[in-house]
Amino acid sequence: MQAWRASLLWFDPHADEPHPRYEADGLLVTAAGADGVRRVVAVGAFDTLRAAYPDVPLTERRGRLIAPGFIDLHIHYPQTDVIGSPAEGLLPWLAQYTFPHESRFADPAHARAVARFFCDELLRQGVTTALTFATSHPGSVDALMAEAEARGLRCIAGKVLQDRHSPDGVRDRTEQSLRDTEALIIRWHGRARLGYAITPRFAPSCSDAQMRGAGELAARYPDVWIQSHVAENVDEVRWVRELYPHDRSYLAVYERFGLLRERAVYAHGIYLDADDQRALAQSGAAIAVSPTSNLFLGSGFFDYATARAGGVRLGLASDVGGGMSFSPFATMRAAYTVGRAAVRGDGRPKTGVSLSPFDLWWQHTAGAARALGLGGVVGSLAPGSEADFVVLDPAATPLLARRTAQAESLAEWLFALIMLADDRAVTEVVVAQGPGTQIFTGGASAVH
Ligand code: GUN
Ligand code: ZN
Repeated sequence: MQAWRASLLWFDPHADEPHPRYEADGLLVTAAGADGVRRVVAVGAFDTLRAAYPDVPLTERRGRLIAPGFIDLHIHYPQTDVIGSPAEGLLPWLAQYTFPHESRFADPAHARAVARFFCDELLRQGVTTALTFATSHPGSVDALMAEAEARGLRCIAGKVLQDRHSPDGVRDRTEQSLRDTEALIIRWHGRARLGYAITPRFAPSCSDAQMRGAGELAARYPDVWIQSHVAENVDEVRWVRELYPHDRSYLAVYERFGLLRERAVYAHGIYLDADDQRALAQSGAAIAVSPTSNLFLGSGFFDYATARAGGVRLGLASDVGGGMSFSPFATMRAAYTVGRAAVRGDGRPKTGVSLSPFDLWWQHTAGAARALGLGGVVGSLAPGSEADFVVLDPAATPLLARRTAQAESLAEWLFALIMLADDRAVTEVVVAQGPGTQIFTGGASAVH
């Protein structure tokens, strides 16, 4: 058993909206189960809880905030080196940078090197669960899963399916791609903290036969995830309409092939209508809101008010390398900015909202866990949750220290943290399995 004393922030893991819990002077008690995974056994006020666990070794972190490890609901590990590649929108960006970069993952040594950096960077930024694309090369999944397992990361990943409208080097072959997907499911899904996601890149890059095969696998393996992109960019949406003239909408294409269900996560979802929102809500599929990517690529502004009214499950995502940062703080900042916008990006108005700091944090922790079908498993400090957490220093920079010291409420304090923090505020990251605590001091890391 281990106990940590600090300020504690977490959310009800089963609610459909943010219900924050906070202890200014809290105690978090964790213990390893028979499966080797450490879980939260108790959380609450230090004064009342310590008496129940008097002999558990205590790690003192007063003045720091302990919160659940962040969940990145959509990211591309092979695009680690694509960050900051400017282009005239999504489709030129894919052609100019992304596909050429991803073609290099045919080389297992390259995949391994990038996977290693990627996993280290996720942890350094406080991300302990990620739903990530690999590339179309099956070996790119093997490389990532091995690195994630070694670090105890909760990693859900899949080989990209793209058998058309894709250049040599990344285009796969329909039948082989489906056989490879099934072999990878069998190899990796449910091993340690790893999961598999069936990964049609997006409707334009997959033939009907490939989409049909993906849907059949999704039905045969109902606890495997599905990940893709939907309604990100106006040119992309127009292209989908040309390719699928008989489908009601972009999202309806995925629905027709059996790819809308619980544990299906679609990135972006900027250009959805009321019927799409309904289909998402009824199926339990989720949207990974990817605000830094949408800003960088000029894709548009996510409509929170409409999605929320429609009951759509949401979580936050970096979408690196369209996204600009691995940092959950950068993503939460951008989500706030995108929420404020009164336009979508196609000339249609939307209602600007002012997301609370609790809402932003929830979307990157317990809300994202709900979207993954992992509510109560990750993304919270509630008892029973896997013990993935971050230790944050609210005085990590002079400006952060000055601004947080003046906050007159918890909401104001958290908002200042969201607006001003970055990886310098992430002083320790604890994952529920494997090596244990990663201590980050001035960019260097050590495992204890
Ligand atoms: N749509 C299809 N592929 C991609 C990708 O790699 N990134 C983003 N942002 N959108 C996509
Ligand atoms: Zn993406």
